Amino acid sequence: MSIIYAVITVLLIHGASSLLSPSAIKGTLMGIPEDGLLNFTQMAVKYNKSAEEHQVTTEDGYVLTLFRLPGDKGPVLMNHGVFDSADGWILRGNNSLAIMLADAGYDVWLANQRGCRYSRKHVSLNPDKDPEFWDYSAHEYGIYDLPANIDYILNATGQSQLIIIGFSEGTTATFILGSTKPEYNAKIKSFVALAPIAFLQNASGPLKALIHLGPLLNGLLPFFEISGFFSLSKAIINLICTQLVIGYDFCFGVFFNPLIGPHFEAIDSSFFKVIIGHFPAGTSKKNLIHYSQIGIRSTFAAYDYGTLKNLEIYGAFVPPSYDLGKVTMKVVLVSGRNDKVSAIADVQILRDKLPNVVDWNILEDPLYNHLDHLWAVDAHKVEYPYVIDMLANCFFFKHLYADDLQIIAIPKLMRSRMRSNRPCSEIQRL
Ligand SMILES: *[C@@H]1O[C@H](CO)[C@@H](O)[C@H](O)[C@H]1NC(C)=O
Ligand SMILES: *[C@@H]1O[C@H](CO)[C@@H](O)[C@H](O)[C@H]1NC(C)=O
Ligand SMILES: *[C@@H]1O[C@H](CO)[C@@H](O)[C@H](O)[C@H]1NC(C)=O
Ligand SMILES: *[C@@H]1O[C@H](CO)[C@@H](O)[C@H](O)[C@H]1NC(C)=O
Ligand SMILES: *[C@@H]1O[C@H](CO)[C@@H](O)[C@H](O)[C@H]1NC(C)=O
Repeated sequence: MSIIYAVITVLLIHGASSLLSPSAIKGTLMGIPEDGLLNFTQMAVKYNKSAEEHQVTTEDGYVLTLFRLPGDKGPVLMNHGVFDSADGWILRGNNSLAIMLADAGYDVWLANQRGCRYSRKHVSLNPDKDPEFWDYSAHEYGIYDLPANIDYILNATGQSQLIIIGFSEGTTATFILGSTKPEYNAKIKSFVALAPIAFLQNASGPLKALIHLGPLLNGLLPFFEISGFFSLSKAIINLICTQLVIGYDFCFGVFFNPLIGPHFEAIDSSFFKVIIGHFPAGTSKKNLIHYSQIGIRSTFAAYDYGTLKNLEIYGAFVPPSYDLGKVTMKVVLVSGRNDKVSAIADVQILRDKLPNVVDWNILEDPLYNHLDHLWAVDAHKVEYPYVIDMLANCFFFKHLYADDLQIIAIPKLMRSRMRSNRPCSEIQRL
């Protein structure tokens, strides 16, 4: 099984360096639903929102696109996951978290991490020619991209704090920021972490095999960009997953579902085509290898360059661990029970190290998996009302109950389950 995954993975990312024109890429997406072909701004307009496109330059020269759906309430920054772009947050249209937050009146900002389709730009490096452009992982998202976006938003809005909603790698980056630049904790009013990832030692199924294949793939693959939005590999993914009759069964059923946690009912074949119209949107090989190291080493630590280079870069034989004790911002964790990537056991390890967890909501649906936080057909019913309730009722109160949780003498995991799905207004009164 793991060999099949390795072969498929190598095939799909093979040819990553060949660039195709946008119209050639569109040609590989013929006949898919309209939402699969629109970009972020066009999606926003279709769902009756005015969208702004901003450019933010990081300290190390990356030029990032930051989208905004303006609103009257406080700013919320949405930080996407690996292989994705801001698009992931809006694909469900009126039932997407981005549109629902905008409908609720928030000033919604959506980040695009370096290297994805909207942020493939640098002041001096050329992503098509300079391998240095792809020399980054979640570490750089955390220490450069996120603070640049935060400072830009706070300056533009005149606010002193914002709320972050992260999904998957968007949470990894936020934990890295809070631990390496602790002064940013004060700028983050609260952080909602959907499918949080800081540990991967309890990942299971094919993902576990892929994590352990990391070092081998690292040696086999010369490419630095993986599944770029305008790459040959993306064109192959598009053709296989949307143009063939077996596309859904093969790409979703055989490949995706086992990786993220089987849940066929959450995403039908028509919506799967919409997803493929936007995803994957490109990342770096180093980013994936960093995750593989986090899983293999059972440690949330910086990139491992090997003993000698570590000594040169870090002054130690092993890379430094991120100190989660320094992540003092208020954190809300949301988990799915069938998530093979952000496994409950790994979130438990994370939860125990974070000093200021406000709530840990383990959603009731036993089939809820990793991508369901973004794309499940019922996410707008079973998850987003909770998120919006947390924003509306919890974060604007001074008193929070993380300390109350400590004194109840029951196992932490059970305690969080007892807390789950309770409206925030109710928790306040306990
Ligand atoms: C989205 O598409 C429109 C129409 O082609 C274009 O004007 C706009 O620049 C695109 N936005 C981004 C961020 O690519
Ligand atoms: C579309 O948005 C505008 C302003 O943003 C609002 O006035 C109008 O009611 C909205 N239309 C619908 C159908 O929701
Ligand atoms: C989205 O919701 C608005 C009302 O809030 C509605 O007018 C519009 O038709 C919906 N758009 C689509 C494409 O369903
Ligand atoms: C802050 O915002 C003002 C206008 O709102 C702008 O002129 C200025 O360049 C911004 N500063 C930074 C560092 O982005
Ligand atoms: C999770 O991983 C840790 C470290 O590898 C291990 O000790 C623990 O038993 C695992 N938890 C579960 C529930 O499998």
